[in-house]
This record gives sequence, C-alpha cells and structure tokens, in this order.
Amino acid sequence: MTEESIYIGINDKGEKINLDLAHANRHGLIAGATGTGKTVTMKVMAEAFSRVGVPVFLCDVKGDVSGIAQEGADSAGMQKRINKFRLKDPEFNNGHVFEYRAYPTVFWDAFGEKGKNINTTVSNMGPLLLSRLLGLTEVQEGILNIVFRVAEKENLPMSSFEDLRNAISYVYENRQKYSARYGNIAAASITSVLRTLIPLENQGAGKFFCEPAIDITEWIKCSEEEGEQHGWGVINVLDCVELVKNPDVYSTFIFWLLTELYNVLPEVGDPKKPKIVFFFDEAHFLFKDAEKALLKKIEQTVKLIRSKGVGIYFVTQSPSDISNEVLAQLQNRVQHALRAYTPAEIKAVKVAAESFRENPELNTSECIMALGTGEALVSFLDAKGIPQIVQQTSIICPESLMGPCSEKIREDITDKYKEELMMDENVNVNAALSAQALENERLKLELEKMKMELELEKTRLAQAEAEAKKAAAEAEAQAKIQIAREEAERKAREKEEEEARKVAEKAAALAQKEAEKAEAEAKKAAEKAAAEAKKAEEKAAAAEQKKNAARQSKIESQVIQAGGQVLKKTLLRLLKLSK
Ligand SMILES: Nc1ncnc2c1ncn2[C@@H]1O[C@H](COP(=O)(O)OP(=O)(O)O)[C@@H](O)[C@H]1O
Ligand SMILES: [Mg+2]
Repeated sequence: MTEESIYIGINDKGEKINLDLAHANRHGLIAGATGTGKTVTMKVMAEAFSRVGVPVFLCDVKGDVSGIAQEGADSAGMQKRINKFRLKDPEFNNGHVFEYRAYPTVFWDAFGEKGKNINTTVSNMGPLLLSRLLGLTEVQEGILNIVFRVAEKENLPMSSFEDLRNAISYVYENRQKYSARYGNIAAASITSVLRTLIPLENQGAGKFFCEPAIDITEWIKCSEEEGEQHGWGVINVLDCVELVKNPDVYSTFIFWLLTELYNVLPEVGDPKKPKIVFFFDEAHFLFKDAEKALLKKIEQTVKLIRSKGVGIYFVTQSPSDISNEVLAQLQNRVQHALRAYTPAEIKAVKVAAESFRENPELNTSECIMALGTGEALVSFLDAKGIPQIVQQTSIICPESLMGPCSEKIREDITDKYKEELMMDENVNVNAALSAQALENERLKLELEKMKMELELEKTRLAQAEAEAKKAAAEAEAQAKIQIAREEAERKAREKEEEEARKVAEKAAALAQKEAEKAEAEAKKAAEKAAAEAKKAEEKAAAAEQKKNAARQSKIESQVIQAGGQVLKKTLLRLLKLSK
C-alpha cells in the first residue's frame, strides 16, 4: 500500500484521481445538490484515510454516516463498480483489496445518548461561542463578557450551566458595584440573559456542560484491534441529528471542536499525512448569520489549524455558502452536480465552475449541471502543491454501508461503551478505594501528629499558667507593699502638716501679742510726744512772746533815739535860722 496518496476515483479516460496525503491538510470542499453523492464521497475519503492510519472525524447530520460502522451490502451495481474502479486489484487500488467491511468507528453524542459523551465546561467554551450558542444580542453579549470577567476575578466556578446561572445571578446582585467598573449593567439585560439559558437547558445543555471536559486528543487514535485493521485510523462519528435542528447550536459546537483541536494540538509544520481529517457536513450553517468577530475567528482557525496537521473538509451544497476567505483556503475540491433553475443558482454554478483550474477539454459550467450521482468535478493539489486541472471523476464506492447502520450494530457499539464506562468506573472505584486507603493512612498519621501537638500544647499551657500565677502573686505582694508605703507616707505627711499648722498658729499668736504691745507702746510714745510737743509749743510761744517784747522795746528805743536826733537837728536849724 502506498502511503503518498489515496485513491478517490477515475476520470473519463479511466485514469486514477488521487489525493496527495502530504497536501490533505490544505483543506477541502465537497459540494453538490442534495442526493448527488456528497456523503458517499465523504465516506470513501474517510475509509481511505483510515486505511493509511489517519483518524477521521465525521459529522452525521442525517444519521446515514453511521453506516461506516457496518459492512457494505452487495449488489449488482456494486459489483459493476468494483470492476470499473479495479478495486480488487491491489496494484491499482494503492495496495488495497476491496472487501465489504465495517471500519473502526467510535460514535459520539453531545447529549451522551447515541454514543460517547462529548462535554466541555462553560469557561472552556468562552463568551464568544456561548453568546452564539445562546443567541445573545450585542448588549447581552456584553453582559456575558462581564460575567466571565467577574467570575475570573472572584474565582467563581464556571464549569456547568448551573455555575453560569449562579455567576450571572452574582453579577445581578452586585450590579451596582460592577456597573461602576464595567459600565451600566441594566437589571433587565441580566435577567434576559438568564432567560436565554432555559431553552438550551431543555435541550440537554446540562449534559454537555460538565466536568471533566473531553480530551479532544481521544479522537486522534488508531485501531488497536488485532488483525488487518490494526493501525487503521479510528473514524469518529458525531451524531448531529438533534444538534443540527438548531443550526446556531450545531455550527457553534462544531466550531468549538475545531478551536479545541487547534488549542490542544502542537505545531507540526507540513506532515507527510494529516494527524486527523475533519469533515464538517452542512457547513453553510457555520457562515450563516455569523457576526464579524466570529467569522474572523473561523477564518483564522481554518488557516492556522493546517500547521497542526488538521485537514478540514467542508461539505455543503454550493461553494457560495462559504465565506470567500475560507473558500480560498479549500484547495482540494470535489464538486458534485448542481441544479440551476433560478438566476441565483445559475450564478452559483458559474462561481463553482470558475473556482477550478480550467480544463481545456471540459466546459466546466455545463459539466457541473450534467453530472450523475456519484460523479464530480475534482481538482486536488498535486505533489508540488499546485491545483491540478479539473477532471470529471467517477467516485469509487465505499466498503462500508452507504446508508445508516442497523439499530443492532449501533446498540452493540453503544453497549460496548457502557461496558467500557463501567470498567472505567470500576477502575476508578478501585483507584478511588486505594486512594481512600492512602488517604485514611495519611489522616491517621495526621491525627497522631495532632495528638502529640495537643499534649505538647497542654504542657505548655500548664507551664504558662503556673508562671502566670506566680507573677500574679508577686504583683499582689508588690501592690500591698505599695499601699502600705503610701499609707505611711500619707500619715507622715499629715503629721508634718499638723505640726506646721501648730507652729504657724503659735507664731501668729506671738505676732498678735507683739503687735498689740507695739501698738500700746506706739500709743504711749505718741501721747508722750504729743505732750512734749504741746510743752515745746508752749515754750516756743513763750519764747516768741519774750522775743517779741524784746524786739518791741528795741524798736521803741530806736524810735526814741531817732526822734531825738530829728529833734536835735530841727533845733539846730532853728538856731541857725535865728541867727
Ligand atoms: N460514489 C457512489 N457510488 C455509488 N453510489 C453512490 C455514490 N455516491 C452516491 N451514491 C448514491 O446516491 C445516494 C445519495 O448520495 P449521498 O451521498 O447521500 O448524497 P448527498 O449527501 O449529496 O445528499 C446514495 O445513497 C447512493 O445510493
Ligand atoms: Mg448527505
């Protein structure tokens, strides 16, 4: 078996059309009207990838993909195809010999009913995808973003739907506080977000959002069964029959899977073959009504996931269902028939035809409309990574059943999971038991340690108590001494004060007496002085009198004397005159 390419069909000249494995991660498109063979082509490719050890992920939107878990049914038509495509010839069929066979399949179900449960946590899904899942308006999306931020800041759990509800309620209760930080959070908007949870909860979101989140690398497995299928890539079939009834939920879910794959897988550059190939049926739902932010994220993820070794094949009716940015990245193309009656359909055919590298021998537009069931226009990248010219191709037929698998097979497989789950649970219970034993041992040791510590603490406490008692007694004695000392001091002070008072009184009495004595003496002295003064006055008066008398007599004698003179003179003059 060659590993470089997988055999998909033959052109109108009977030449093989191969898909180069090294370029299988350059993504692809399977387009065509309903009933033209898209699902069968997807199965054919999935089987071929599986055989070369590449795990595959298929979305089953109608339930008919499940047939991959059951061997195909023989018919005259099938025999004709086996011959036409030389499928029994290993040299022609890339080393493989066609047999009707079931492929190693694992069924998955977001609701855990028709397969293994796929689940994740609310925080893992994130606000952008959750907003789309809940069908939120822009304002409500803003609120949800705040809820996520608050939950992160406050360490609120964000695993289950219940956690989400609680976190929203928490923001509601504290909306005033958070409005100040994040802008107005209207009560009505929060309650409207809460209401959007109800329909999803009714659809079983509770089962989808729970711990532990699925480990997506579980899909990247090869069969471990002994026999020829050992090492074949496991074909993971996700039951989307219920999911697709709500296209927003379906497409968001699928996009989440891609994002998870992108986040989990390491870079591998350009591998020889893909790590996993992802077929996304009803892909138009992904782009329908996708707002700008989401569309940008889809485009980026598709572009970058290539280097993680993931090939994504979009399955839809017309290439025009897919955004141009993404379409440009889908380099391996299978275009089944398109019917064109309306102008829009005619335009879609033209767009589809023009997207191929032209084949001079082929009128692509006409050919697209004329293709039969199981026929397609195909252009894959060649070994150099260049798109090959478009070829009209008959797609080979699958080895597994083309329609849905029987209920019996599905039940058997589901029962096997349940058994595995029980075994896992048993293992878990055993592990839990031994873990419990270990835990008990640890608890016992811890108890011992705690006991010892308690004893130690008791001793310490007793010691401290004794010391405290001693200290208290000492303090009491000290206090008593202090009181006695203070009492003695007080008495001494009182005595001193008493004595001082007495001395002062005595001194005061003495002073009084002395003052009285002094007063009496002063009186006496004053009286004496007064008497003496009187006497002196009288004496002085007498002396004055005497003095006055003396002065009088003197004046009189002087006057007499003076009179005599005058008289004498007068007489002399008179004598002279007389002469
Ligand atoms: N390559 C094929 N070989 C044989 N029969 C095919 C092939 N492709 C399609 N068919 C037939 O056409 C039917 C519809 O094909 P299907 O893949 O389910 O169409 P679509 O997915 O485009 O609606 C199939 O059930 C099968 O009978
Ligand atoms: Mg289909």
